Amino acid sequence: MTVQTSLEDSRSVRLKAATRDSHGALDKRIMAGDIFADRSNFARFLRVQYRFHRSIDALYASPALDALLPDLAERRRLQQVRSDLQDLEQALPGEDIIALGNDLPLPTALGWLYVAEGSNLGGTVLYKMAAALGLDRDFGARHLAAHPDGAARHWRGFTAALDAVVLSPAQEQEVIDAADAAFRSVHGHVEVEFS
Ligand code: HEM
Repeated sequence: MTVQTSLEDSRSVRLKAATRDSHGALDKRIMAGDIFADRSNFARFLRVQYRFHRSIDALYASPALDALLPDLAERRRLQQVRSDLQDLEQALPGEDIIALGNDLPLPTALGWLYVAEGSNLGGTVLYKMAAALGLDRDFGARHLAAHPDGAARHWRGFTAALDAVVLSPAQEQEVIDAADAAFRSVHGHVEVEFS
C-alpha cells in the first residue's frame, strides 16, 4: 500500500510512511521465527540485534552527528545487546559483519539512526513479551528496556532533533533510501540467524 505524505509533514512522519512496508515485512518475519517460544529462539533475535548494532556502532561516536542529535552516545545499545547474549550464554556472532564508518554522508547516517532509534520504541512491545521468558532490564532483555524518561518521550527527543536538521530535497531522498537500506540489512541478518 502506498501512503501519501506531503513535504509539510515532518521528516520523521515521512520516514515512517516510506518504510511502512519494509518495517511490516521485517516484523512479520521476526515474529514468524517464534522468538518468544523459548530462550534459544529469543537468542536468534538477539544475534540479529547484535549484527545490526555492531554495524552501526561507529555512528554513535561521530562528533558531527553528536552536534545535531541529543544524547547520541547514550543511545548506543551494542553493549546492552552483548550483555543480553552473555546472560543467555551465547557466543557473539562472528566478525563477518560489515560495519559502517563514522564518516558516512549526513543524510545516510540519519536514515540508519532513524531505524535504530525507532526499533527501540517498538522494542518496548517486545520487552513486555520477553517477561514470559523471565527476561528483563537486568537479564537478557537489557537492550529492549525503555529509557527511564519513557520510551515515547525519548523517541520524541530524537525525532525533534532529526526533524530540525536542514537538508536539500535530494538529501531528503537519501535519508529515505538509507532507512530502507537499514531495514533491508536487518532483514538480511534475520535470514542468516533464522534459517
Ligand atoms: C530489529 C528489528 C526492528 C526494527 C529495525 C524496527 C524498526 C522500527 C522503527 C524505525 C519504528 C519507528 C516507526 C516510527 O514511528 O517512525 C518502529 C516502531 C514500532 N515497531 Fe519496530 N522494528 C523492529 C522489530 C519490530 C518487531 C519484531 C515488532 C513486533 C511485532 C515491532 C513493532 C513495532 C511497533 C508496535 C512500533 C510502534 C511503537 C509505537 O508507535 O509506540 N518492531 N520499529
